[in-house]
Amino acid sequence: MRMVDLIEKKKDNVVLTDEEIHELIQEYTKGDIPDYQMSAFLMAVVFNGLTDHETAQLTLEMMHSGDVIDLSGIHGIKVDKHSTGGVGDKTSLVLGPMVAACGVPVAKMSGRGLGHTGGTLDKMESIPGLNIYVNEEDFIKQVNDIHLAIIGQTASLDPADKKMYALRDVTGTVQSIPLIASSIMSKKLAAGSDAILLDVKYGDGAFMKNLEDAKKLARTMITIGQHLHKDTRATISNMSQPLGYAIGNSLEVKEAIATLNGNGPEDLLELCLTAGSTMLMMAQKAETVTEARKMLEEAISSKKALHALEAMVKAQGGDSDYILYPEKFTMAEHIFDVYAPETGYIEDLEALTLGLVSMRLGGGRETVTDEIDHSVGLILHKKIGDYVEQGEPLVTVHDNGKWTKERKEELLSAFHFSKEKVEKPILIDEIME
Ligand code: URA
Repeated sequence: MRMVDLIEKKKDNVVLTDEEIHELIQEYTKGDIPDYQMSAFLMAVVFNGLTDHETAQLTLEMMHSGDVIDLSGIHGIKVDKHSTGGVGDKTSLVLGPMVAACGVPVAKMSGRGLGHTGGTLDKMESIPGLNIYVNEEDFIKQVNDIHLAIIGQTASLDPADKKMYALRDVTGTVQSIPLIASSIMSKKLAAGSDAILLDVKYGDGAFMKNLEDAKKLARTMITIGQHLHKDTRATISNMSQPLGYAIGNSLEVKEAIATLNGNGPEDLLELCLTAGSTMLMMAQKAETVTEARKMLEEAISSKKALHALEAMVKAQGGDSDYILYPEKFTMAEHIFDVYAPETGYIEDLEALTLGLVSMRLGGGRETVTDEIDHSVGLILHKKIGDYVEQGEPLVTVHDNGKWTKERKEELLSAFHFSKEKVEKPILIDEIME
């Protein structure tokens, strides 16, 4: 195979053979195809797309470019959940314990955040001592013992995606549904679960800016799952405003703990109940949504879900007192309110802008090597549809010295007001399978 022929083929929109896709991924992972040729190929895919079969084949090859985790040592049906990312998305820290408390083994590999989106691992690391690098044997043992482990991906998982994603990031080739779908699904499939629930988000703060593209991405990933005989389903959820009220690592962990104590934001709880019900049914622990929701609600009211999180933190070497006494989390040095500049209903609340403000306070990474400040971020007081009087607190800022006039202007630019009453947006549009 000559790489230039593959580039020409994709440029002319000709379907690639399985053998060609196999060689492409093998040789690129080994370093035998230079980045400049891979970039040209990826750009041809951005313009011409891939067929369902090509996308499934690409996923399979990427999945097998490194280790595939064998979770057969874990008893029961393992259901993994993946969110396509957003602002204030602490779902895994609530949903994982809720589902585990209902007896479903949750063996989850998570990622770090980049840019305006946060990552579960960064949030977890705001708990002192918590180790996210757990070897496969201990990972399996932990899930068998307490039903729950959330750890970082090993370096040997899906090396093809690591190289390709880094290249796509700097060559304008991220925005392609088959490339996003194969990137996500190859990692999820290599992580070894029996079934996968995808939370595909759309809106200002998400990868997919509109509902139609989110559905297309979800359908592409479900089709890949079906090709590879994995039960794959998707919730389509709205990320036109942040999820919950907290943005920033330890602030989000505290909000997750409050939710497990029954005092969380309505939207976060609703997303966890909806996604959790689907996971319980995929794991064959419940037959109907009504039955599943009841089990999940009971996991919260009995505090079983909270104790599942506490047990996970303890098992991974973290100080589990932080789960029971969240006031122990280190607070930022400066905590102050920003007030509403006008009276009216909140019409729009740009998740992307708020995510960027939190990142610039130190809560996220502009580049992969940036250090995170776990204590900084934002607590929103109002969301879309809420009425606010001029001078009322809109946001509480948690800052360690990076707050400036520009930051304040940026923060306020995220809020759009209307004199007319505004409906609250729909949170979950659909569950696809
Ligand atoms: N997340 C991924 O893991 N891959 C993509 O391509 C986009 C989002």
